[in-house]
Amino acid sequence: MNVLIVGGGGREHAIAVSILKSPRVKKLYCVPGNAGIASIATCEPISVMDFDHIIAFAKEKAIDFAIVGPDDPLVGGLVDRFEEAGIKTFGPRKNAALLEGSKAFSKDLMKKYHIPTAAYENFDSAKDAINYLESCDFPIVLKADGLALGKGVLICETKEDAVLGVKSIMENKDFGNAGNRMVIEEFMTGREVSVLAFVDGHTIKTMTSAQDHKRAEDHDKGLNTGGMGTFSPSPFYTEEVDQFCKEFVYQKTVDALLQEGREFKGIIFFGLMLTPNGPRVLEYNARFGDPETQVVLPRMKNDLLEVMEACIDGTLDQIELEFEDNAAVCVVLASKGYPLSYEKGIPMSGFEAFDGKEEYYCFHAGTALKDGQIVTNGGRVLGITGVGSNLIEARQKAYEATNWINFSSKYMRTDIGKAIDEA
Ligand code: AMP
Ligand code: GLY
Repeated sequence: MNVLIVGGGGREHAIAVSILKSPRVKKLYCVPGNAGIASIATCEPISVMDFDHIIAFAKEKAIDFAIVGPDDPLVGGLVDRFEEAGIKTFGPRKNAALLEGSKAFSKDLMKKYHIPTAAYENFDSAKDAINYLESCDFPIVLKADGLALGKGVLICETKEDAVLGVKSIMENKDFGNAGNRMVIEEFMTGREVSVLAFVDGHTIKTMTSAQDHKRAEDHDKGLNTGGMGTFSPSPFYTEEVDQFCKEFVYQKTVDALLQEGREFKGIIFFGLMLTPNGPRVLEYNARFGDPETQVVLPRMKNDLLEVMEACIDGTLDQIELEFEDNAAVCVVLASKGYPLSYEKGIPMSGFEAFDGKEEYYCFHAGTALKDGQIVTNGGRVLGITGVGSNLIEARQKAYEATNWINFSSKYMRTDIGKAIDEA
């Protein structure tokens, strides 16, 4: 089978590594990919939003199976385009990807189907949103409706801050068109857990849990990022939490989408908060998490291609997902200055240290090849994953391996997985 992966981050590198374990993959392609993916697949520099070129490339290469990684092309309808071209594709169609594409839609869905989430209101105008703030308790959470690179969420301590926040989202359009609508929601407290699940339209099978670290600096300080590291499993995702979510969240979400005429096939990523009143859904994503994927897939025993095909064919009920009884930690090596401004094109070295080492992974995110030399090409540069028999061992291995890689702008958090010590 000829397989094409769309995307070029650490998530797509992790998907590529897993999919290549399937004996049925004959040739693997990736657009646009990165320097790491280029070492195991044929990459072509096509933007993930250039649908016409992607489809033409897929036809030229006789692609049998496509996998769409990132949110933008999913929400934009790339899966529909592949299907129109007769190519079997893993990922939700445009009408189902709205689960991630519009926070107002996902909140209304949860309200209508009684799926536990923070109390909220949706707004189409800044004036109405500001009036509403008069009756709110603080802190309060403001969310731009659309995709905003994970940055469209503002937690405001006071009414004055919140008024500025509403203006930034809806009037200044600091998050672009994502701010044409917004959600204002209740501030909740508790630990966050990410649960990724395969869905075939009807059946849902959850993967092992993970936890992300979104802030740029140690002790959860600094700006929000795409994610600075992850660990899996989360010791806070107990049997009790799992039972609760199985009863009130997972299947109910899939059924709700079906009921709304938005059959969902692909990955639903549940961002959960374990509040004192029980688990609540913080957000849905319609794709694999990044860098959650870099700790979840290395622990999965199944043939990834087989599971993805079952999602498309509607036969996921016949698959038993299996994970190793171990743990993984991923530490992101970022460019100094991320998520604001940072330099690109800085030479990197040390990759050969990973050769032949089984429990260490070097997933490339923002890297490129320049005259045969691997250079930095983004804010999040690499995801270094260590796998061990438990979280402490996995963390020790991940941090050990971060030392093998050198580049002058290298920056990382030093406390990824620290919460494990409190479990
Ligand atoms: P989201 O993109 O919706 O996951 O939001 C990004 C981050 O903002 C989450 O991971 C939480 O840390 C925080 N957040 C979002 N919604 C809330 C909420 N209702 N209460 C407290 N924190 C929140
Ligand atoms: N790591 C969070 C996300 O992928 O959205």
